[in-house]
Amino acid sequence: MDQASLEEVFAGLPLGPVRYYERTGSTNDEAARWVENGAPDLALVVADEQTAGRGRLGRSWYTPPGSALAFTLVMKNAPQEEILPYTALGALAVSAALDKHYALKPQIKWPNDVLVSGRKLAGVLVEAFWRGEQLQALILGIGINVATESVPTEANLQFPATSVESSLGRPVDRWTLLKQALQALLDWRPLVGNPEFIQAWEDRLAFRGEWVQMSEAVSETTRPIEMGQVDGLNSDGSLRLMTSDGKVHTIRSGDIRLRPVDNLPE
Ligand code: BTN
Repeated sequence: MDQASLEEVFAGLPLGPVRYYERTGSTNDEAARWVENGAPDLALVVADEQTAGRGRLGRSWYTPPGSALAFTLVMKNAPQEEILPYTALGALAVSAALDKHYALKPQIKWPNDVLVSGRKLAGVLVEAFWRGEQLQALILGIGINVATESVPTEANLQFPATSVESSLGRPVDRWTLLKQALQALLDWRPLVGNPEFIQAWEDRLAFRGEWVQMSEAVSETTRPIEMGQVDGLNSDGSLRLMTSDGKVHTIRSGDIRLRPVDNLPE
């Protein structure tokens, strides 16, 4: 892939300027630098390989060459009370594209991991840039495991993982999938935070009705805080979790990790 060919792939999509890298540290870091230097709305950074890809909660994200998608979109004018649903926008867009074009049925592990058959195949890292009290831009970074080689070995995984190609059992053109995911993102963006958007997100919510362990991130490790049944989403995208005493808790923080539990409370 190269810059000119990628721009051809994107023909017809109302994107901002595009920067393509054969190899970079992290597309989020590139986009952050670009924001500081005046990146416009919908500026897009794409890389074939990341050498220092970042995941949520300070984790690293594996993007070997020739096998994955790693890209970051700059979003200006996001209302600051809606940062949480913006984090779901990426996951919803990837899920919608995989559903529409590949007949997969992805689910979203709150707030923003994409799972197929209980295994993660895409992750989203949203970062906010403030100028004083003013939200200047959000950058929405998405990583998709497309080919099998993009899936880290089990030893390096926090959660079971898969790829688009192993879920489908056939090869997939990465750049076509990128265009489809961006198209879905552009389609959903005007609806972020609307009831229709929250409903679409909730329809894909993983572990609904199941018991999960919530953990809070404490630096690099996590601390279990609550066990509960996933009840659904509130209208602002926060997660409702029902504990064994019947109380419904609202989880807003993104620094939370969900794990299905095997041993249910009595
Ligand atoms: C996660 O699941 O923890 C989030 C993973 C986000 C990875 C993407 S790849 C493109 C962008 N650049 C990064 O360094 N991270 C995000």
